[in-house]
Amino acid sequence: MNKTSNEKIPPRILAVANQKGGVGKTTTAVNLATALSAIGEKVLLVDLDAQGNATTGFGIRRAGIRSSTYDIIFDDATIAETVKHTKVPGLDVLPSSIHLSGAEIELVDLERREYRLRDVLRTPLTSAQGGHDYDYVVIDCPPSLSLLTLNALVAADSIVVPLQCEFYALEGLSHLVKTVERVKNSFNPELSIHGVVLTMFDKRNKLSAMVEDDVREFFGDTVYETVIPRNVRLSEAPSYGLPAIVYDMKCPGARAYISLAKEILKRERKIRAGQNLPATGSTQVA
Ligand SMILES: Nc1ncnc2c1ncn2[C@@H]1O[C@H](COP(=O)(O)OP(=O)(O)OP(=O)(O)O)[C@@H](O)[C@H]1O
Ligand SMILES: [Mg+2]
Repeated sequence: MNKTSNEKIPPRILAVANQKGGVGKTTTAVNLATALSAIGEKVLLVDLDAQGNATTGFGIRRAGIRSSTYDIIFDDATIAETVKHTKVPGLDVLPSSIHLSGAEIELVDLERREYRLRDVLRTPLTSAQGGHDYDYVVIDCPPSLSLLTLNALVAADSIVVPLQCEFYALEGLSHLVKTVERVKNSFNPELSIHGVVLTMFDKRNKLSAMVEDDVREFFGDTVYETVIPRNVRLSEAPSYGLPAIVYDMKCPGARAYISLAKEILKRERKIRAGQNLPATGSTQVA
């Protein structure tokens, strides 16, 4: 079954999560979202981190933001009134605000505190009611297993886990895996780990290869074949307010993220076929 103009397919929601700081979550969320839209999917990138790196990474000035993911979670703001269009066709961003830094404490007493994001992202509404018609929602999570990250995991269908190729790469991952199990048991039985992506791989460094071997042995096929190389263009691009794929689409980092997006869509096709779900934007013609 294919998507028709009057049929609304719920988007697939992917949370980019790892409680460890600086492992490449935001770089992955920004460039994966961009690559998915370059392939033909309609994508919403949700910045759930008070640091706002996914927001500024698209050149969106935080000072000028009136509604943010904070307002979505706390003040019933709609996606339509919060969304920012980007220069990338088919890619919108829900910007974050510094107010999110107080979200942990504010969430504690809130009704349905774990479901706040899910309720907004998964309520089918018409565009006039503030609804949306995205094929994919990509959530950039903060570096913690906080209530905010919990909101992302409760909203998501699946998690993409960036893992930096460094000595302590696997440390803390068991904690993440346990959290996923806890979320599955208590809030979101359908949640799965979509895949683990190795980031900042340095082929001149033996350690990177050793970490890759360890991670593949431990996680097997869950690890994507695509490995993201350490590439200075990926770290330069945000200072120009551009995803690396737009800043320099030929650089090794950009090419790797396009390859990751293709791999993710391939897995998605399998998952959708298994669940008898219709294809999304680009996958229906693939
Ligand atoms: N493949 C890469 N090659 C070179 N630099 C990279 C790569 N991936 C990420 N970086 C750089 O490493 C730093 C951390 O990356 P990023 O911000 O994506 O991580 P993060 O997990 O989102 O961090 P945080 O936990 O603080 O949110 C950034 O300066 C980023 O530009
Ligand atoms: Mg980040």
